[in-house]
Amino acid sequence: MSHPDTPGSIRTCAARMIHAVEVYERDGNSDKLRQALLDATLPVAQRADLYKLGVKRQANHIENAKWLYYDDQLTLELDEFPNGKFIPPHDHGVWEAIVLCNGSLKHTTYERVDDRSVEGHSELKVVEEVMMKVGDIAMVVPPSDIHSFEAMTADTFALTIVGGEYSPLRHYYNLQNNTYAVRTPRALRETGALAGAPR
Ligand SMILES: [Fe+2]
Repeated sequence: MSHPDTPGSIRTCAARMIHAVEVYERDGNSDKLRQALLDATLPVAQRADLYKLGVKRQANHIENAKWLYYDDQLTLELDEFPNGKFIPPHDHGVWEAIVLCNGSLKHTTYERVDDRSVEGHSELKVVEEVMMKVGDIAMVVPPSDIHSFEAMTADTFALTIVGGEYSPLRHYYNLQNNTYAVRTPRALRETGALAGAPR
């Protein structure tokens, strides 16, 4: 058990992240935000009871996903990435950070290098490819928010922090064909989140 005011409590972590986001909204310094998010979430990542926390989340690419914290401007998720499953390049429309809790994750960020004149055609260039270790953070920030990742071991878990709601229209890139598709995320479609408000 983590006492509510210890660094490992979700509430403390959320308060620290909210403060970090407020600072970022003033200074626009994403390097500072990234460090502050890591400082806020590492005590949670290191909790012995981490995998007992949270409630089930319907995700877009994976099955085992949970909400640890949610408001309409900030979310903290605990996600399991299946060993060897390549999650192809995609964007988000908001910033997203990943803190590795267990296992090993190959994380790649991309830049679009085509002139965007042909609909459905895209060329991506790898900006950075890192093999994340436990306790590492990776972050993507619009307009450079395209990434892919792949768990390299079994039991790869990460905390994912998202700076608001994902865009309802996201780009999913195919590296082999140099194409992209604009799609609504599966979780938004299947949960009915796109339907109008009940009358
Ligand atoms: Fe992502």
